[in-house]
Amino acid sequence: MKLGIVGWRGMVGQVLMARMLEEGDLNHFDTTFFSTSNAGGEHPFKQLNKADPKLKDAHNIDELKKMDIVVTCQGGDYTKKVFKDLRNAGWKGYWVDAASAIRMDRDSTIILDPVNLHVIKKALKEGKKDFIGGNCTVSLMLLALGGLFKANQIEWMTSMTYQAASGGGARHMNELLSQMKYYTDRVMDKGTNLSERILEVEKNVTGLMSDAAFPKENFGVALAANLIPWIDSDLENGQSREEWKASAEGNKILETTNMIPIDGTCVRVGSMRCHAQALTIKLKKDIPMDEIEMILAEHNPWVKVVANNKTDSIKYLTPQYASGKLEVPVGRLRKMYMGNDYLNAFTVGDQLLWGAAEPLRRMLHIILE
Ligand code: HSE
Repeated sequence: MKLGIVGWRGMVGQVLMARMLEEGDLNHFDTTFFSTSNAGGEHPFKQLNKADPKLKDAHNIDELKKMDIVVTCQGGDYTKKVFKDLRNAGWKGYWVDAASAIRMDRDSTIILDPVNLHVIKKALKEGKKDFIGGNCTVSLMLLALGGLFKANQIEWMTSMTYQAASGGGARHMNELLSQMKYYTDRVMDKGTNLSERILEVEKNVTGLMSDAAFPKENFGVALAANLIPWIDSDLENGQSREEWKASAEGNKILETTNMIPIDGTCVRVGSMRCHAQALTIKLKKDIPMDEIEMILAEHNPWVKVVANNKTDSIKYLTPQYASGKLEVPVGRLRKMYMGNDYLNAFTVGDQLLWGAAEPLRRMLHIILE
């Protein structure tokens, strides 16, 4: 099969390429790399002998039309520019996309195969061709709680998120670091032992956030030493678009017949590439804790149930632990004061791996089957 890859140079693309090279995925395809800026140039993946050495123009519909599969991490604007024209030109290939642009379209299937392989296979049988990666927070939540969803034991759920800078993109991660540097350059220039006058230092740090020169082109405000309780656009119903995605995408991924309400507050925090979320789960009935842990642990090979104690929680339930790993730790599991059918949980996962790249590369194998 002829595989076209667009957006391999960006952050998600780099993670995708690293995983595909690690797993030898590209041995199964004749690969063409596309570029929006350097058509005719050479790509850096010299080790791939089945790949066309020259970059093709990512806006050239005739070149894209030659592909059996196009996988793109180029972003939503690219999808909006190219996808319709490509389909209108009669292209019948598979479109595998990390962006959200056409994710909720009727003909699109959101891909998260450890959770919805049956939905993906049904879509393929029906001749569907558009397979789109889910929102990172939603995908990570579903991998963590897949067992309870599969057992149909969730009546509703709230999800309070702690989302990393990487969700905004590479420039956002860079800006988080620049903000940290902006403070420390100014308040620690004469030494780092500030605890005796920490109240004054805190006042300085908070003041620095309003400096004209403070780096905030991407976030708009300070993230370092601060948090941002709004992610994505304002839907003007009180909800952010990121919050809306939980129920909309979650239910589409699972193809639920009775909608499971999932709602909460999405918050940007100063972690680098791992999204975390605190969950309140209303169970349909009182299920014993050991059974819940078993249901969760047995659902897929990546979920890791973390014992609910301080030592394990601060070791395994953190962005530090999850970064660069496919593992999705879930812990802080306990029944809540509200009743035995209320479950508390906390989960964290790498938003560039399962949250973005991994479902795409796995989809390529599903298409090949
Ligand atoms: N929308 C997510 C975020 C990342 O901003 O964290 C993309 O899924």
